[in-house]
Amino acid sequence: MSEPHDGKPAGFAKGLTNYGDREFSVYLRRTFASSMGYSREMLDRPIVGIAHSASGFNNCHRHFPEMIEAVKRGVLAAGGLPIEFPTISLGETFLTPTSLKFRNLMSMDVEEMTRAQPMDAVVLLGGCDKTVPAQLMGAASANLPAVQLVAGPMSTSRHRGERLGACTDCRRFWAKFRAGDIDADEIDTVERRLASTAGTCAVMGTASTMAIIAETLGMMPANSAACPAVDADRLRIAEETGRVAFNLIANPILPSEIITPRSVENALRVLLAIGGSTNAVIHLTAIAGRLGIQVDLRHLNALSETTPVLVDLKPTGQHYMEDLYAAGGVPAILRELKPLLHLDCRMVTGETLGERLDAVSWVDREVVRPAAQPVRETGGLVALFGNLAPRGAILKRSAADPALFEKEGRAVVFSSLEDLANRIDSDALDVTPDDFLVLQNAGPTSEAAMPEAGYLPIPRKLARAGVKDMVRLSDARMSGTAYGTIVLHITPDAASGGPLGLVRSGDRIRLSVSKRSLELLVPDDELARRREAQPPRALPRHARGYASLYEREILQADEGCDFRFLKSSG
Ligand code: FES
Repeated sequence: MSEPHDGKPAGFAKGLTNYGDREFSVYLRRTFASSMGYSREMLDRPIVGIAHSASGFNNCHRHFPEMIEAVKRGVLAAGGLPIEFPTISLGETFLTPTSLKFRNLMSMDVEEMTRAQPMDAVVLLGGCDKTVPAQLMGAASANLPAVQLVAGPMSTSRHRGERLGACTDCRRFWAKFRAGDIDADEIDTVERRLASTAGTCAVMGTASTMAIIAETLGMMPANSAACPAVDADRLRIAEETGRVAFNLIANPILPSEIITPRSVENALRVLLAIGGSTNAVIHLTAIAGRLGIQVDLRHLNALSETTPVLVDLKPTGQHYMEDLYAAGGVPAILRELKPLLHLDCRMVTGETLGERLDAVSWVDREVVRPAAQPVRETGGLVALFGNLAPRGAILKRSAADPALFEKEGRAVVFSSLEDLANRIDSDALDVTPDDFLVLQNAGPTSEAAMPEAGYLPIPRKLARAGVKDMVRLSDARMSGTAYGTIVLHITPDAASGGPLGLVRSGDRIRLSVSKRSLELLVPDDELARRREAQPPRALPRHARGYASLYEREILQADEGCDFRFLKSSG
């Protein structure tokens, strides 16, 4: 079996099952590997693992068999043996209570299986929202040579002459249906047209944002994030990814050499410039945290002031991911941001970021604006702090209504998701368009495990009266495909005893985006009284299993919602 230059066991000889007799372990492994029909020549090759998340419960990954074949082609042509293996898959809409609850579990699967099985490098094939963060977290912890490959975005379809793409248009049509503007027959038709190809959501949602972040960090080949799932280029990218992974065996560049404080700052810059998903702040914090790198929300605010939004994509703009690829893809965005980036960062393909950008030629300025004529002068996200969010909260200002940025309002509080569902559409609900809707107990330590419920629906009676946006506050997350004046990730969360849980209907709250502040206008002694009357729920709530592990180990949003025991010890 294979022995590379440094003399350490490689390929099938790597990481032997322990029977107390090394030679026997080699012999036994070769016996069982032979039963898969490999020739001796193949058994002696270095191995590139392909960790993939194909599943019948993941529509976004339904083309993975074809992509895996293309990766294998690249590995074989380069001289390696490709071996695919499944890991947990997280299909965004198929999991309860929410996919985020299982991201850390998937990251453990990726980390442990890449370490425990004999492979010299690994291709990580994911795409749907939480899969790429989980794979990068696992790869950072395992620190084996790794290359990310993503599903690529869905292509758009049409409805009555209008272009449709999941899932910003899902929300737009649902809002029309709630407001009574379209009937049940039309929403049925739209339901069949919104997601009509393989691939991830077609807009700048979480999946697209994380793919772009992975490319910016340097964990993927150039211009591989935005290519549509069904484009033939996607298969060529898969083939190239296989070759890149094989090349890492002889010339290793480890995740810890790629994901560094400087590349993480580049990723934050790009997140701000693409008007990316709020979820990406949590995921990037978790990925960086695996290598002992801290993402500071006050630093995010400083970067946001000097980073323009350059990409005109839904949910905040006009275009779709397939348009971004046609416009020049991620390299076009990076080239525009060049003066703000650390160009010496190493890419998994061996070159530096600066060298990678030298290859960019044509850019469609309709989709990727020049830095001198941006979509917005400042970045898409800001962090807010104050007595309601001592450790921070996030607002996607590029998706919000500036008319609501400096505002004081009366709180209309929902104590849980159940309470929200029961009362939001009641005609008896005491609410006006100037009120602030507040959702409690939807943060990481709640039973709900931080779902994408921060996009609270406009109460039906206000929606019917034409109200399109209101200030909404919660400790929950929001889909990257959603929009509105929505304050998310309030930290610490209500279930852990954070001040959000002390808000009562009728309290006054002041939001100031210019001051980056979020204040609950209730005297301290009254808050202390409320706190004493309402201690956080005692743990454990679950006696066994993953739910028990989750509630013991889960960290807050400002620490990436990772598990305490999985973070780097520094
Ligand atoms: Fe998979 Fe949106 S549902 S990316």
